[in-house]
Amino acid sequence: MAHYLVTGGAGFIGSNFVRTLVNDTDHTATVLDKLTYAGRRESLDGLPTDRVDLVVGDICDADLVDRLVARSDVVVHFAAESHNDNSLNDPSPFIDTNLVGTFTLLEAVRKHDARFHHISTDEVYGDLELDDPERFHETTPYNPSSPYSSTKAGSDLLVRAWVRSFGVRATISNCSNNYGPRQHVEKFIPRQITNLIDGVHPKLYGAGLNVRDWIHVDDHNSAVLQIIDSGRIGETYLIGADGEMNNKSVVEMILRLMGHPTDAYEHVNDRPGHDLRYAIDSTKLRTELGWKPRYTAFEDGLAATIDWYRTNEAWWRPMKEATEAKYAKTGQ
Ligand code: NAD
Ligand code: TYD
Repeated sequence: MAHYLVTGGAGFIGSNFVRTLVNDTDHTATVLDKLTYAGRRESLDGLPTDRVDLVVGDICDADLVDRLVARSDVVVHFAAESHNDNSLNDPSPFIDTNLVGTFTLLEAVRKHDARFHHISTDEVYGDLELDDPERFHETTPYNPSSPYSSTKAGSDLLVRAWVRSFGVRATISNCSNNYGPRQHVEKFIPRQITNLIDGVHPKLYGAGLNVRDWIHVDDHNSAVLQIIDSGRIGETYLIGADGEMNNKSVVEMILRLMGHPTDAYEHVNDRPGHDLRYAIDSTKLRTELGWKPRYTAFEDGLAATIDWYRTNEAWWRPMKEATEAKYAKTGQ
């Protein structure tokens, strides 16, 4: 039994990770989360208080981070500013949290010799052409496009340097686009589901031909646990479930599953610098660690996600108006 420090554990992926940790292991966890606009205390509702506690604080606060890391065996670092569109409107918190925050954690794990796992994204690799037979793999050169992805790329490089220079015991995972319960309504899939619940058309950026490689959040988190258990120190593992689909097809599937005509969407302004296609080759994770995804039917996972948003309106309703007001300013 180990004690985990889970940064960003009140966010989308982190809160689902804590649930997986409680359900599938005997470990205990402290969540360190600043509860920004993206973090919700409610995402930890129902978890046993003798196994999980929440500390509200900033990963850039070196004294707090030092105290929490000192009493942890493993640090899993999810905390980040995570939304590309926000990073285009104001990059500044991305620099603080994604770069300075990761640096602050690395200094503490270095001092206390805690095991560190860094959660990152496939967006550090930039994008692929639609007809490119290639997918991203662990040796693809970094080529990030946005303030978000460039700060994540920088954080990955900090982790690599702290492994090599200081012997920090760290692993990194770069995952593709996640979907599932408790994702903020600013993100593509929950935005369209909650728009439809509100009688508003789904919004496609540009022509809607951009491709994302979808993975269920529980599959991402099972891979993270496996990497922490048996991954090799200093290594990077790409996490993906072979779920490539263009945005238009995803919107059409959501419309069909929610009982609407499949052309009942609208095109809105495109994102500046919009990455065309992401695609993950997860051969290393699958062959070296024997991981495989459980959610192989995207449509089933999407239907369950739609059900979750239908039955948990109290969770997302408080964020919806402010999110749409933000999008209205950029014509999206
Ligand atoms: P999220 O925005 O839902 O959650 C981020 C959490 O971090 C929030 O709870 C927020 O309050 C917290 N946080 C932000 N700044 C903080 C700070 N300075 N100190 C402490 N807590 C802070 O994001 P998410 O989608 O759950 O993403 C989690 C991680 O996974 C991120 O590192 C992201 O880059 C990575 N990732 C996300 C995806 C995806 O599809 N969402 C895919 C691959 C990787
Ligand atoms: P998003 O969820 O923001 O994730 P990321 O930028 O990390 O891939 O967006 C996923 C895709 O959906 C991306 O190509 C942008 C597009 N998109 C829309 O078409 N409409 C929307 O309302 C949003 C939020 C995103």
